[in-house]
Amino acid sequence: MVEISNKIYKTEPVAWRDLKFIQTKEFKKFPSESKERLRNSLIQNNFVQTFYVWHDTDKDKVYCLDGFHRIQILKELIMDGYHVPEYLTANFVSCKDRQEAAKYVLIYSSMYAKLYKDGFDDFMQLNNLSLQDVQFEVDLPEFQLETLTDEETKVEEVVEEELAESTRTPIVKAGDLFRIGEHYVLCGDSTSLEDIKILFGDTKANGIITSPPYAEQRSQYKGVPVDEYLQWFNNVQNNCKYVLARDASFFLNIKPHCEDGERNLYVHDLVCAMKREWGWRFTEEYCWTHQGYPGQLDGRFKNQFEPIFHFSLAKASDLRFRPEHVLGELSDDHFKKIEQRKNKKTKDASKKYATASGMGNMSHYSDLKGARPGNVLNANVGAASDHPASFPIKLPLFFVQAFSDQNDTWFDPFGGSGTTLVACEATNRRCRTIDLEPLFIEMIIRRWAKYRSQVKKSTDDFEHINGTLSLQEIIDNI
Ligand SMILES: C[S@@+](CC[C@H](N)C(=O)[O-])C[C@H]1O[C@@H](n2cnc3c(N)ncnc32)[C@H](O)[C@@H]1O
Repeated sequence: MVEISNKIYKTEPVAWRDLKFIQTKEFKKFPSESKERLRNSLIQNNFVQTFYVWHDTDKDKVYCLDGFHRIQILKELIMDGYHVPEYLTANFVSCKDRQEAAKYVLIYSSMYAKLYKDGFDDFMQLNNLSLQDVQFEVDLPEFQLETLTDEETKVEEVVEEELAESTRTPIVKAGDLFRIGEHYVLCGDSTSLEDIKILFGDTKANGIITSPPYAEQRSQYKGVPVDEYLQWFNNVQNNCKYVLARDASFFLNIKPHCEDGERNLYVHDLVCAMKREWGWRFTEEYCWTHQGYPGQLDGRFKNQFEPIFHFSLAKASDLRFRPEHVLGELSDDHFKKIEQRKNKKTKDASKKYATASGMGNMSHYSDLKGARPGNVLNANVGAASDHPASFPIKLPLFFVQAFSDQNDTWFDPFGGSGTTLVACEATNRRCRTIDLEPLFIEMIIRRWAKYRSQVKKSTDDFEHINGTLSLQEIIDNI
């Protein structure tokens, strides 16, 4: 018979001001009315509800599982002159580890308070919990799990690793080719046409998105000297052209660094060369905004954006372009603008300035089912991110959806930690990617495996095409 065990093994007073917390301040919503109500209740009714705590015997610390806001208010009351006993009663809950304790924090919280989505995501990541761990137990008011299981959140669930220099010895070696699910990953050089042919065979790419190593930056990413950058990139763009389908787009994320107090111009030279020397069309420039790193720079403010250059081989009207995949909500203001535009067109028609349809082309305003986004994308990472070189998953998620269909193939010639590949996995696209660094290839495979096991509950679709490594060996080499 399955037993319902008593997880509360003792009730005793604790030095409540010494309690530690698993969650952060931003975890729960605590509007001022609720705060006022709790404060009044404590004043009028006294302390009538026990704390719930977990004693981590390894670290000899007692964590508060339930009581976070009461503790905050009790501290405020002391400042306001109230006397609060040093010890208050707590129920001790038995937990085998921090992960289990974190789950109870979530369960207690969901009973009494609304959670902030960002706080919740951070909490899940920090405590290595997945939605599957809690979805049958947590019913959060105004915070439906459905909204959390959209593609973006599922992807963000993947516990990411730092792209820092590592002392581990890789087991992958140059030339190794892997199939993971529908994707292919090669440990190789994207300036080499031979390697690209190995990765692609006869397949064509329906889109490319990448963030190449910056010139002379971060030695571990094989930075190229500024004065050799164009020559080096010439090979990359040639190989991209070789695999790219005619109607496909190439998104390049790169921002020049500063030297001696001014921005280097090599990226501007690169954009000009793409258009004037190498024959690409310069379709658009996107801006990815983020918080930036705080700092006091001479003559400049902190950097809060990065450009993403959109190149293509075909003209804009012939591109594979799917705005309907990324429509946002229509605002009232949006409807107003459409109305104004309709009225203007009707007036113009009476003045004989009308287009043939009498309405003109309104597609830039709206697709009626939703609003088209603009070319500024907010992907708020920056100071909070552990990743010095990876771009946020929102970028590839946006571009692969807006510029391709399901089952299409994307290429990232500088795979890094595999952000593009995970975005493809999440949106049912296929990815082919390459990186020079064996440790990054291992990281890509582990990141994919982690995502698959959390979301699809399976990771067995793995093949080391020209070798004998198993998925488990790569997962274990951490
Ligand atoms: C800026 S990082 C890419 C980060 C990636 N977008 C992500 O989100 O993780 C650049 C990557 O290019 C790789 N790299 C540098 N030169 C390369 C080359 N010639 N061929 C393939 N990869 C290269 C580096 O090892 C590094 O992982």
